[in-house]
Amino acid sequence: KQVPIIAPSVLNADFARLGEECDRVLAAGAQMVHLDVMDNHYVPNLTVGPMVCQALRNYGVTVPIDVHLMVEPVDDLIESFAKAGATYISFHPEASKHLDRSVQLIRDLGCKPGVVLNPATPIATVEHVLGQLDLLLLMSVNPGFGGQAFIPYVLDKLHQARQLIDREGFNARLEVDGGIKVHNIGEVCRAGADTFVVGSEIFASDDYAATMSALLAQIDA
Ligand code: DX5
Ligand code: ZN
Repeated sequence: KQVPIIAPSVLNADFARLGEECDRVLAAGAQMVHLDVMDNHYVPNLTVGPMVCQALRNYGVTVPIDVHLMVEPVDDLIESFAKAGATYISFHPEASKHLDRSVQLIRDLGCKPGVVLNPATPIATVEHVLGQLDLLLLMSVNPGFGGQAFIPYVLDKLHQARQLIDREGFNARLEVDGGIKVHNIGEVCRAGADTFVVGSEIFASDDYAATMSALLAQIDA
């Protein structure tokens, strides 16, 4: 298990002041920025493209940018986000015709590959490529929107994924995304996650630093 980190999802940030919003959460102890890319096709919502990733780099965001692609098809956008300064690029297997090929493409472009499993998608979907991944992301809500409730059966999936990663000695981070709050992040951490995407809990709060500290205190980070 890797050192636990929080990756704020800027989906609920003020997009008109995105650079400053990143500064504020990074100053508060975040170590990565999670960028949710939605295409109104794979998911019923529309967000941002590679230009915004590049704009964050130009603004001066130097921490890893964790690009979560909720788009179909994925391969063209993998290339655009690699050029735009993405660090991790993760995609949903349902949105790629060739899971292994998309993983290799991310690696060949110099980025860190991740695969994202929806709540009802079994861990077995990813077992053959898990050794090639830098990130396994388990969704704990159905993708598309911030502010949804954590789906409890994902705790079992986290346990399973943690066992598999440890048993095989893989070094993928185990990330969880959706409905993570101060009140449940401790339990999610004990289930095996080491990377926590947190959106509305931070960006809907008045004091990002206080919320970040409260989250970090629960995971001993
Ligand atoms: C949902 C996104 C998440 C979301 C998390 O499709 O992938 O990253 O923004 O937001 P909260 O923490 O509010 O569930
Ligand atoms: Zn996400």
